Amino acid sequence: MSWRATLAGTAATIAAHRLELDRDLPLVRGWMNAPHVAPWWGLAGPIDVTERYLREQLARPHLHPWIVCADGEPFAYAETYRAADDPLAEHYDADPGDRGFHLLVGPPDRLGTGAAQLLIRALLAHLLADPAATRVVCEPDVRNTRMLRCCAALGAVDTGVVRLPDKDAALLVWTRADVIAGDTVELTEDAIA
Ligand SMILES: CC(C)(COP(=O)(O)OP(=O)(O)OC[C@H]1O[C@@H](n2cnc3c(N)ncnc32)[C@H](O)[C@@H]1OP(=O)(O)O)[C@@H](O)C(=O)NCCC(=O)NCCS
Repeated sequence: MSWRATLAGTAATIAAHRLELDRDLPLVRGWMNAPHVAPWWGLAGPIDVTERYLREQLARPHLHPWIVCADGEPFAYAETYRAADDPLAEHYDADPGDRGFHLLVGPPDRLGTGAAQLLIRALLAHLLADPAATRVVCEPDVRNTRMLRCCAALGAVDTGVVRLPDKDAALLVWTRADVIAGDTVELTEDAIA
């Protein structure tokens, strides 16, 4: 399963394929151990830590794990999910149309390049391409200034703090009106290397 985003005003191609454990585990393990990722994902450690986590995610019917590429180069891991079926729904009044995401930009040389914003725009377009989707939510740790600023710059509305088991999170919400006009997504059949 894969998809490709067309983002207004940029020539970059952002494309995603569903995570395949055999192919993608070493890549994701490396990213989980990067110093800019480890504090926020809490999965630093040997490869079996990442493997156990990814196997659990692949088994969850309401969630999809993705490897995201910019111009053919993998640069991010993301998860998209139906919020009403996620443990997050125990902590806020989830609508059946709510979709959510988690993400990380892996290679340190991609930080500060605008890649994260393209990634978030692509995820918003992907999630809201589903006619049943009404809003997109994200729940960064309240201390994750970098993520909070990135999302704010893309129109996320901070609806307040939710107390999750592992963190105090800012519940960020986008509606269709917040998506940049012209940002679209198409499903693709081709495997992306
Ligand atoms: C969060 C993440 C996607 C942001 O991508 P990025 O390329 O680092 O973001 P940017 O460089 O565009 O920076 C975003 C904002 O944070 C600021 N910023 C950059 N580094 C920072 C730091 N160390 N501390 C605080 N703010 C910082 C930038 O100045 C920018 O703010 P501005 O637009 O108001 O100037 C990326 O850092 C990442 O993957 N982090 C690890 C995983 C993670 O935190 N995921 C989110 C879990 S919900």
